[in-house]
Amino acid sequence: MQRVLITAGATGIGREFARAFAATGAEVFTCDIDAAALDALRDEIPGLRTTVCDMASRAQIERMVPEAIKALGGLDVLINNAGIAGPTAPTDAMPPDEWDKVLAVNITGMFDVTRLAIPALKQSEAGCIINMSSIAGRLGFVNRSPYAASKWAVIGFTKTLALELGGNGIRANAILPGAVAGERIERVFAGRARIANKSLNDVRADAMANQSIKQMVDPADIAQLAVFLASPAAKAISGQAIPIDNDRQKS
Ligand SMILES: NC(=O)c1ccc[n+]([C@@H]2O[C@H](COP(=O)([O-])OP(=O)(O)OC[C@H]3O[C@@H](n4cnc5c(N)ncnc54)[C@H](O)[C@@H]3O)[C@@H](O)[C@H]2O)c1
Repeated sequence: MQRVLITAGATGIGREFARAFAATGAEVFTCDIDAAALDALRDEIPGLRTTVCDMASRAQIERMVPEAIKALGGLDVLINNAGIAGPTAPTDAMPPDEWDKVLAVNITGMFDVTRLAIPALKQSEAGCIINMSSIAGRLGFVNRSPYAASKWAVIGFTKTLALELGGNGIRANAILPGAVAGERIERVFAGRARIANKSLNDVRADAMANQSIKQMVDPADIAQLAVFLASPAAKAISGQAIPIDNDRQKS
């Protein structure tokens, strides 16, 4: 039975990871900043373990990871899902504190969780790390410089982990979703419409024009990709940056 830690799993894509791994019979632990959403998910998924943790806080992460490993009795799969979108603004108008906040959650928090999880993953028969990057980790993203910088950083981090840990039987891969159906993308579209002075419908049409498959990504499909990556069938896959983005060509 796999023991799985998912960061920021109370809603959104993280919740889909929790649902999908729990459905395979895995033991799942997830943390989030939103206590009420964690309570709701515990009601939905029997046996789910949770704790509140702000992924921008090193002190909270240093408490959360040992708590998760203890509750799970070890660790086989780490899903570094936490990531915030940050503001929509050109770089010369980007508030520096917002830059710091995005980098803190999206890459520094990922580093802190991972360094604390590695000793337990080394004890696993088949340790696996899945890091959430984005289409913004493959292309430049106008007016989203901290987000794009952080998501490219995730790729470098992932490829380095694969090299460092392959000898311990631990695989590390990154998933790069495109526009995912849900509340978050609606907020991103609203920011884009405001800054470009366009209607929301035009912003949506622009997004679809940049991809060969004219739909949003279903978060449940991202979760199934993670289940596959964590399975023995993916035992030869490591150090990869895997898009799931309806063949998006432009940001
Ligand atoms: N939604 C998309 O279109 C999309 C596209 C590409 C990549 N991604 C990436 O996928 C991951 C998940 O995205 P999502 O859309 O589900 O996110 P989301 O904005 O829906 O948030 C998911 C969860 O993160 C929690 N959270 C926010 N700040 C936190 C913090 N400081 N500490 C702990 N938890 C915090 C929220 O409470 C929420 O439960 C992120 O890394 C994101 O960058 C998302």
